[in-house]
Amino acid sequence: MESNRTFDDIVNQNIEKNLKQNSEAVDDADDEDDVVTPWTVNASSVAGIDYDKLLSRFGSSRIDDDLISRIEKLTNKKAHHLLRRKIFFSHRDMHEILNKYEKNEPFYLYTGRGPSSTSMHCGHLIPFIFTKWLQETFNVPLVIQLTDDEKYLWRDVDFETLRKITIENAKDIIACGFDVNKTFIFSDFTFIGQCPQFYQNMVRIQKCVTFNQVKGIFGFGDSDCIGKISFPAVQAAPSLSSSFPFIFGEKKVPCLIPCAIDQDPYFRMTRDVAPKLKYPKPALLHSTFFPALQGAKTKMSASDPNSSIFLTDSANQIKNKINKYAFSGGGTTVEEHKEKGGNCDIDISYQYLKFFLEDDDRLEQIQKDYSSGELLTGHLKKELIAILQKLVSEHQEKRKLITDEILFEFMKPRKLIV
Ligand code: TYM
Repeated sequence: MESNRTFDDIVNQNIEKNLKQNSEAVDDADDEDDVVTPWTVNASSVAGIDYDKLLSRFGSSRIDDDLISRIEKLTNKKAHHLLRRKIFFSHRDMHEILNKYEKNEPFYLYTGRGPSSTSMHCGHLIPFIFTKWLQETFNVPLVIQLTDDEKYLWRDVDFETLRKITIENAKDIIACGFDVNKTFIFSDFTFIGQCPQFYQNMVRIQKCVTFNQVKGIFGFGDSDCIGKISFPAVQAAPSLSSSFPFIFGEKKVPCLIPCAIDQDPYFRMTRDVAPKLKYPKPALLHSTFFPALQGAKTKMSASDPNSSIFLTDSANQIKNKINKYAFSGGGTTVEEHKEKGGNCDIDISYQYLKFFLEDDDRLEQIQKDYSSGELLTGHLKKELIAILQKLVSEHQEKRKLITDEILFEFMKPRKLIV
């Protein structure tokens, strides 16, 4: 159940708070709470974000065993390990989407990326790997937004550099294996000017949201440029199917958005606006964060190269970064480790294995052996290094095959075939 507070209650509370603190907090966080916004992720504890607390603060619903078994039953398929392990842990209106699917009614997927560095990191793969699984499993169209305009507004970067970064990121995304017949990828700078319906929806959304509301949701202040203040409408617009007339015509098709929970503020706003425009509210599936190498207090972020494993890293770089930086939950000496065991909750190598080691039995064995002290940190790291080296090198091989022609196909506005 979503919380009973209305959207305006939350917004008003935040405006007061933000005026007082001029902070980026987007909800009713207390001072000692974790910070989770589209720009900052900071946990107050070494164990990382308190996701239970976040569920009630954000007012979203927990992904529970019932939802997972409903998905498995309807699709006749075992749930993806990111879902089974509750790495995707929160949702909004997923049951509504499943009701549609059950009745053979259409829906579509929408996700995105803010192109900020030539190379994406392993954390960025999470929503795309999962979205690919959703696309395959439900056989639905997918739109992927590349918010080069967002990065222009937030970073000190010129158009030419952004264009290059956007192309590089799009190729990385395509290499995740999306079906060209069912996927449309667009950059805001290139696409919006070509599509009046998209722009009209942006302006419709802008008309429904006040300055006070965006201040409350995003923590914008009086000295933020007006581009930032109106940007949320750009990220909201793909949630309305009529923004893509060449795919959906004028049909009001419901939308499902997989992303990490940092993007939720954009879609809380969108969910408030959609019914006013007589559209269904977009549904969401939220993931936890793939943590920084240094520990779960922050998410892996491209702006700190030592916190991240990039998709361009060599096998050696991966090995060195994990060995040097991956925060260990093991004992300080071998004797202490053998006596007291390791702490999987804070051990980054174990946390990474939860995201990328698909074999449930092997993961469980590692968890047991590490917690009992039988398995040493060095061995855990060795196992992780091999998995990440394989993942990244396979990704690099697939990416080499993505030519400009293939990229052009994905980015051409066209009818999708499902
Ligand atoms: P961006 O580029 O910051 O992130 C792209 C996607 O990756 C998720 N993400 C992570 N997931 C797990 N662990 C991490 N450490 C991690 N870091 C980032 C983000 O939640 C996101 O899903 N404004 C957006 C671009 C965007 C978008 C969207 C994202 C436009 N439309 C619709 C999701 C859905 C951005 O800058 O994402």
